[in-house]
Amino acid sequence: MKTLSVDLGDRSYPIHIGQDLLQRPELITGHVKGRQLMVVTNETVGPLYLDSVQQLFTGFELETVILPDGEQYKTLDTLNLIFDALLEKRFNRSCTLVALGGGVVGDITGFAAASYQRGVAFLQIPTTLLAQVDSSVGGKTGVNHALGKNMIGTFYQPGCVLIDTNTLDTLDDRQLAAGLAEVIKYGLIRDAGFFDWLEAHIDRLKARDKSALGHAIERSCTIKAEIVAADERESGQRALLNLGHTFGHAIETGTGYGSWLHGEAIATGMLMAADLSARHRWLSQADVDRIEALLQRAGLPTRAPDEMDETRFMELMAVDKKVIDGGLRLILLKAIGEAVVSGDFKPGLLNETLTSAA
Ligand code: NAD
Ligand code: GLY
Repeated sequence: MKTLSVDLGDRSYPIHIGQDLLQRPELITGHVKGRQLMVVTNETVGPLYLDSVQQLFTGFELETVILPDGEQYKTLDTLNLIFDALLEKRFNRSCTLVALGGGVVGDITGFAAASYQRGVAFLQIPTTLLAQVDSSVGGKTGVNHALGKNMIGTFYQPGCVLIDTNTLDTLDDRQLAAGLAEVIKYGLIRDAGFFDWLEAHIDRLKARDKSALGHAIERSCTIKAEIVAADERESGQRALLNLGHTFGHAIETGTGYGSWLHGEAIATGMLMAADLSARHRWLSQADVDRIEALLQRAGLPTRAPDEMDETRFMELMAVDKKVIDGGLRLILLKAIGEAVVSGDFKPGLLNETLTSAA
């Protein structure tokens, strides 16, 4: 087992990574506040892991709320189901919410914890690769709006992240690949050596080799923890974690939440960011080809869907959270392992990237 720390002063918290951690109550129960515990999960993950999680918290007053499964349910209406359960069971301010599931459950539960009675404790038990390397760490919480992805939410940090890599055994291949997109993102933005390692080990990762997965999760969480500790509220370098997201969120919103997985949309978005970087001569075409090859070997799409023409992209990208004072900022690459936030890309070259993306 490895333990990392997200260093945020008195809000610092551990990330435990390893196999069989759902059998290790001592790692997590110390982070519970009060005796009342609400485990939030969904109709897919609940039947798989709720029993183990109930064992983990033996001795607490434990209730559960089971949400419908899917990105299309990451809404205010679903959030309300958690508030209904908390109020019906008379949960007080000294309680703890536990997110058991992927990024959808984690983001909604974190937002519920941030706002229930003006803030209660919460813990993350992420069960998808994407949630284990990204969404469970760093405190971004929230829900989607019909007009934009993740538009309603807040920053609110968990008290502990418990990553049992055995939970990946039940994840389907498409979801595993979606998580690999975020893993590849860390190599692209911060660590060329890790990108090389991913090129060498992608087949082991796809085969769910636990040692390779453990290393990929640890390296990803280390990079994320460093960035979050330096810029929790995204006034600077945290924006780099959004490589591919402006294009990707447009694809997710444009195709209706749920048909493209978040990680799939981010994969295509990262290649679009690489393409635009190459059109500015910041990145070589050979590097763009390496990125495309790795994404494809991971089983990820690299072409935007046909319905996403240039006009639709521009319309949807205009509501991106990285638009400041009317100007769009994009995360682009100066090299593999070196991302920058840029507002001074050439609009003509952006048009070329958008028209050639599909
Ligand atoms: P998800 O939560 O929808 O999970 C994917 C699917 O896998 C779901 O059907 C889920 O029920 C199922 N599942 C989860 N764990 C499983 C397991 N162990 N075995 C079998 N099935 C399992 O999707 P996701 O990819 O985990 O997360 C995507 C969400 O995360 C998006 O809403 C995205 O916006 C958000 N996100 C947030 C952040 C952040 O910083 N907060 C970062 C990245 C992504
Ligand atoms: N996934 C982007 C972030 O956490 O900032």
